[in-house]
Amino acid sequence: MLSIEQLGFTYPDGTRALDRISLHFEEGSSTGIVGANGAGKSTLVNHLNGYYLPVEGKISMGNLDYCKKNLDRIRRDVGLLFQNSDDQLFMARIYDDIAFGPENLGMDKALVGTLVEETLLELNLWHLREKPPSHLSQGQKRFAAFASLLVMDPKVIVMDEPTSDLDPGNRRKLINLVNGLRKTRITVSHDLDFIWDTCERVCIMKEGGISAEGPTKELLSSRELLESNSLELPLRLQGV
Ligand SMILES: Nc1ncnc2c1ncn2[C@@H]1O[C@H](COP(=O)(O)OP(=O)(O)OP(=O)(O)O)[C@@H](O)[C@H]1O
Ligand SMILES: [Mg+2]
Repeated sequence: MLSIEQLGFTYPDGTRALDRISLHFEEGSSTGIVGANGAGKSTLVNHLNGYYLPVEGKISMGNLDYCKKNLDRIRRDVGLLFQNSDDQLFMARIYDDIAFGPENLGMDKALVGTLVEETLLELNLWHLREKPPSHLSQGQKRFAAFASLLVMDPKVIVMDEPTSDLDPGNRRKLINLVNGLRKTRITVSHDLDFIWDTCERVCIMKEGGISAEGPTKELLSSRELLESNSLELPLRLQGV
């Protein structure tokens, strides 16, 4: 469904951040993308939501190629949960942040109201709806940002470090929430236990390339493979 073919990317200063990578994400699949700092994960994420358009290689979503004229449609189909929730919440009230996307699509006001209310209830944010984002805790912001994404009902959800800032209870809540979504999911994280709990497959990136790809439990239980990619076993396998 979402397909990356031979994608390469070099920053203007000459840093080669992606080196002809190919990845395919089936509809409804859940994939973790892991790798050391600087491996190229965020550069890849910035391509998936069209912030960077492919200059080398190509990306396609179904029959739709990633190019300027398809960008609106791609951004509607592929929702990104930003690493920093402050980049995603910018209105005066949480309610308005969640209403922003549907309103922008020109949806009927009454329908927007119903959708926003359902989403607020689903994510347990009803009591926070009148608050400005700056008055929320980091964890609350993460769920509000998630709500602004879900309300758009994207086909694919891309999450960049979704568990940073979450306490154990909210981390568990997020695990249950994402596992209950019938959507294609791509999760970038250093939290390998979260990847273990939420992703069927994993792709390990190294120096702009893909060094391994396969079933999560197989790859993430190989100490040797992880160490050769500057990673460690998930905590649950470390016996601590
Ligand atoms: N704007 C930029 N200009 C030049 N080089 C950049 C820029 N942004 C990132 N890079 C370089 O591209 C490479 C990949 O960076 P990227 O941010 O994609 O890594 P990452 O896997 O997301 O790392 P982290 O786990 O630390 O978030 C790194 O070598 C980084 O220094
Ligand atoms: Mg990054």
